[in-house]
Amino acid sequence: MAVLTGNASSGKTDLQPENYRFLQDCVYKESGIVIDSDKHYLLEARLMPVVKKQQLTSLNDLCNLLRATRTPDLRRQVVEAMTTHETLFFRDPAQYDALRTVLLPQLIEQRRALRSLSFWSAASSSGQEAYSLAMLLREMGLGDWSIRIVGTDLSEQILDRARAGKFLQIEVNRGLPVSYLVKYFNRQGLDWQLKEEVRRMVTFQKLDLRDNLRQLGAFDVVFCRNVLIYFDQQTKKRILEQLRGALAPGGHLLLGGAETGVSAVDWFERVSIGQAVLYRAR
Ligand SMILES: C[S@@+](CC[C@H](N)C(=O)[O-])C[C@H]1O[C@@H](n2cnc3c(N)ncnc32)[C@H](O)[C@@H]1O
Repeated sequence: MAVLTGNASSGKTDLQPENYRFLQDCVYKESGIVIDSDKHYLLEARLMPVVKKQQLTSLNDLCNLLRATRTPDLRRQVVEAMTTHETLFFRDPAQYDALRTVLLPQLIEQRRALRSLSFWSAASSSGQEAYSLAMLLREMGLGDWSIRIVGTDLSEQILDRARAGKFLQIEVNRGLPVSYLVKYFNRQGLDWQLKEEVRRMVTFQKLDLRDNLRQLGAFDVVFCRNVLIYFDQQTKKRILEQLRGALAPGGHLLLGGAETGVSAVDWFERVSIGQAVLYRAR
């Protein structure tokens, strides 16, 4: 079964077993994320801030409140706390190299007349993935093409951050080449603001990957990285089938490093470019 990973070690807390199962169910229903049965300390570490915010004293109290309340807001806070938003600029550089050296040159050739391309960063988190791509496309001289980059995520909170395009020093230190920082960002106090010319290339919207994924139209390249690991096999399979349907003929899917073993054979052909593995729609 897929695992919600974290640094907290497994072990028991005073959380009652039926409440552990209740929290597992709640997070699964709201997001598809599977929490394995030995993540007591992880639950505690992530959910105690919610407990405190609600002026409660324990996770058991939180479960009682969740059962009693009908407003979705508290459930959202729980799911938000249990979700990993870890991301960085140009994560898995081999994939960006594959895009730069092979995939994009091919696409540019194919679309020379239309001058239009579309990309989807599914599970975009705070936007580094979509913006890395936008900067790469500008570097490749596609600034005046009709480029559609859509970023989607389940979390409205993280999408607000993505839309703002404002990053901490520690975030721009991770994966972003200095030349890109100088060229595409303005210093704003202690933060770095992405320039409008890059920000306007990406639109962000809320989307649950378990919903109908064909509603966004057809894409040339879909990034769906470091999210499938949190789902069970059945959910993964359904999402992969839908992602296949969201790709233009011959379009490519990029998965995260830990997801290359995902069995996508029915709908995709596995393609190696340099050190990167990509999946071409059959
Ligand atoms: C670890 S981040 C991955 C970010 C980026 N793709 C990367 O690889 O750097 C996982 C993201 O998946 C989102 N997520 C979790 N469950 C989701 C779901 N059911 N539908 C859409 N997004 C989901 C989370 O909100 C989180 O922002």
